[in-house]
Amino acid sequence: MEKKEYKRITTNSLLEMKKSKEKISMLTAYDYTLARIVDSSGIDILLVGDSASNVMAGHETTLPITLDQMIYHASSVVRAIKRCLVVVDLPFGTYQGNSKKALASAIRIMKESGAHSVKLEGGEEISDSIKRILTAGIPVMGHLGLTPQSIYKFGTYTVRAKENAEAKKLINDAKLLEKAGCFAIVLEKVPAELAKKVASELEIPVIGIGAGADVDGQVLVLHDMLGMNNEFSPRFLRRYSNLFEEINKATTNYINDVKSGSFPNEKEQY
Ligand code: KIV
Repeated sequence: MEKKEYKRITTNSLLEMKKSKEKISMLTAYDYTLARIVDSSGIDILLVGDSASNVMAGHETTLPITLDQMIYHASSVVRAIKRCLVVVDLPFGTYQGNSKKALASAIRIMKESGAHSVKLEGGEEISDSIKRILTAGIPVMGHLGLTPQSIYKFGTYTVRAKENAEAKKLINDAKLLEKAGCFAIVLEKVPAELAKKVASELEIPVIGIGAGADVDGQVLVLHDMLGMNNEFSPRFLRRYSNLFEEINKATTNYINDVKSGSFPNEKEQY
């Protein structure tokens, strides 16, 4: 089938892509400059992930990032993009256990950043929040499997749903999220066979990270796939560059030039 050209990606485009078996590409972004580059390369979805808490702020977990900080990152990304769909994570503590608060948080993100949709972690336990957000016409992406906001419940970042009971709950949760009206689901760090089953049983796109190839799309953290973090090497990560080395080389050369007095030269001054 011929690949359709999309001028703008919407939640409907993603459904069409799943139907026509075109894989969906998704990366994270947290700032204007990188979002502009990645959007111009034709990415389908940019996720303003709460991984900004780790990547941008150096926290150990995603828990500390605030709604205000997420809105700051999201509005920077939205100003940069022309084509892709922008999804923003609702941060920890802004939607769990209180659907009215969840709606208020989602509305703030949509109004103050101009983003197109929000993402929430969890299944049945947050379904009231998801349903209420959807009543306002705000598209919702789900997130199951390894949900980093629950890291203190899991105790480890290892693969989820390897046991039958957890796999069964994940399948039920995925169906429930589809029925509630989510436009897509992220599946993080689950066995490839399980992810394949979920993707084949749902009509909405399933986007994997560490979930194998038989899903409808892939997502990675931008700074990880660019090789900016040389201390993080999970099995699922493919590095497309080694920017840690590249940037380190460039900044070392700059420092040497400044120290030796060779920068600036005559042509680099007024
Ligand atoms: O916050 C994030 O970067 C994410 C992706 C890992 C899916 O949720």
